[in-house]
Amino acid sequence: MLKIHMTDTYKAMSQKAAGIVAANIVLKPDCVLGLATGSSPIGLYRELITRCRAGELDFCRVKTVNLDEYVGMAPEDPQSYRRFMRENLFDHVNIDPANTHVPNGLAENLADECARYDQVISSLGRIDVQVLGIGHNGHIGFNEPAEEFSVNTHVVNLQEVTRQANARFFSSEDEVPRQAVTMGLRAIMQARQILMVVSGESKAEILREAFMGPVTPRVPASILQMHPCVTLVGDRAALSKLCDI
Ligand code: GLP
Repeated sequence: MLKIHMTDTYKAMSQKAAGIVAANIVLKPDCVLGLATGSSPIGLYRELITRCRAGELDFCRVKTVNLDEYVGMAPEDPQSYRRFMRENLFDHVNIDPANTHVPNGLAENLADECARYDQVISSLGRIDVQVLGIGHNGHIGFNEPAEEFSVNTHVVNLQEVTRQANARFFSSEDEVPRQAVTMGLRAIMQARQILMVVSGESKAEILREAFMGPVTPRVPASILQMHPCVTLVGDRAALSKLCDI
C-alpha cells in the first residue's frame, strides 16, 4: 500500500519523514534502520539529530545498514558514503559505530564483500524502516535499470546519468567512481516499511513512472508497487505528476 504525504517545503518533508523514523526508534529502541545517502535525506537526518540532542531520541541500541558505497573509496574519503553518514548523522547522535554498517568499497574481493554484506543484513533481521531516495533513472540504492531485478548485494556499473547527477559532490565528473556496491532488492523489499523522501521537480516524471507505470527492472523503484507498506514523503514539485494538485 502506498501512502503519500505532500509538503510545501524541504524542511516540512524532512520533519514529516523524521517523525516516521523517530516513531520506529521510540517504539522499538533496538530497531534496524536502512539508510540512504544523497541530498534528499540530509534534512531528515538533521531533524533526527535535533531530536536526539533534545533528549527525545536514543540511538544507543539502534542498528543501521546503508544501501551502498562507491567501489575504490576509502571510508575516510570525503566523498565516501561512510563519511557522508558520519558527517550527516552518526557523529552527532549517540549511536554505537559498531552498530552501523556500510559496504566496504575497498574490499579486495568484491564478490566476497557482497556475500559478507548480505550476511550482515540477515544477521540484523528484517529492516524496520528503509529510507530511500530515487535516482533520475529510477534507481534505488544503486540498483540501476537493467534487464532483471537484482536480488542480492552486488557490484554495479553506474550509468552515465547517475554519474552526472552525483558529479555535484566531486570536483569533476571524471572523479565519480564507475562502480558501486549496492544492497539488492530483496533486503529492501523485505523491510517492514519503506520511507521514500523526494524533493524537486526533476524527480516528478520518474516518480510517476515508478508508481503509476508498469513494474519493470527498467525502472527499479517500480518494484515498490509490490511492497505492502510504502510511505512517500515529497514536496509539491516532486509529487506534481503523481497527485492531483
Ligand atoms: C545516489 C544514491 C541513492 C539516492 C540517489 C538520489 O545515487 N546512491 O541512494 O537515492 O543518489 O540522490 P538525491 O537525493 O541527491 O537526488
